[in-house]
Formats: sequence, C-alpha cells, structure tokens
Amino acid sequence: MRPSAIIGIGVVSFALSGCDVGPKSARGFRLPDGDAARGERLFSDMGCPACHEVAGMPGLREGVDAQMTVVIGGPTPRIRNYGELVTSVINPSHEIARGYERNAVSSDGESLMRNYNDVMTVSEMIDIVAFVQRQYQLDDEA
Ligand code: HEC
Repeated sequence: MRPSAIIGIGVVSFALSGCDVGPKSARGFRLPDGDAARGERLFSDMGCPACHEVAGMPGLREGVDAQMTVVIGGPTPRIRNYGELVTSVINPSHEIARGYERNAVSSDGESLMRNYNDVMTVSEMIDIVAFVQRQYQLDDEA
C-alpha cells in the first residue's frame, strides 16, 4: 500500500471515531468566565443541596431535606474540565457519576438528577459551573 493511502485510512478512522471533529465536537466551545460566589448562592437557591453534598462545605446542607447524596468536589485524580461539568448539569444522563451504585443515581440509564434546562438561565449555569469546578482538588492518590 502506498504511504498516502495509509495516511488516508488514518484520517478517515480518526474522523469516524468522532474524537475532535464532526458536528458534535466540542471544539471551539468556550463560555465566558463565571462568578463562583454567585454560583454558590445559586447552588443553594436552585435546590442542588437536596441531592448533593459539596466536599468541605457541610453548611450548604443545613436545614435541607436531603433526598440523596451525590458528593460534588473533593480530591480527584483528574480535574473535570468545564465542558464535562456543563454536560453533567444540562445533560446529566450523558455520563453517569462514577463510584455509586447504578440504581442509586440512575434508572434505565437516565440520571435521577432534576432537569434544569427550562428554568436555569445561561448566566446561572455559567456561575454554578464556576463554583462547582473550584470544589475539585487534583490529587494523584485519589
Ligand atoms: C433530584 C436530585 C438532584 C438534584 C436536585 C440535583 N442533582 Fe446533580 N446529580 C444528581 C444525581 C443522582 C447525580 C449522579 C448521576 C449523574 O451523574 O447524573 C448528579 C450528578 C451531578 C454532577 C456530576 C457529579 C459527578 O461526580 O460526576 C454535577 C456536577 C451535578 N449533579 C450538579 C448539580 C447542580 C449544579 C444542581 C443544581 C442546579 C444539581 N446537580 C441538582 C441528582 C441531583
């Protein structure tokens, strides 16, 4: 086979693998910077603590009638980029949180997380994600 044919196959298989090209690629996706302090207030106001504990911030759950506990933040081997965090807020079933019993956090592959897409503004989402992202600390041992 000619070298150019081999390169051609490589390019096509890369394109088909959908890594970083194609209509669903997140390449070029960039939100404006968020306001984490406002995000923290919104996190409570929008009822996130009903299902989430934030590592190191037990106060957020004070007086809250907790339905379940999925921990947000804390030591992690890999900081999640905001694309992943935005996805976990607006399309939570895309990737279900790890480290939990499947049935405790999802049903038939659908996340049990409440759908906020019709009630959360884009600005609110940006600020909440800025707050959430700060809660994770990089830790190779985690
Ligand atoms: C009714 C319960 C419920 C509410 C309310 C809720 N969530 Fe969730 N959330 C979940 C569950 C269950 C998961 C784990 C399953 C999944 O990954 O979708 C989750 C996962 C997440 C994750 C990913 C965590 C990880 O480790 O991968 C983030 C981030 C998150 N939620 C943010 C929020 C924010 C922000 C709010 C408020 C605007 C919120 N959630 C409100 C139930 C909820």
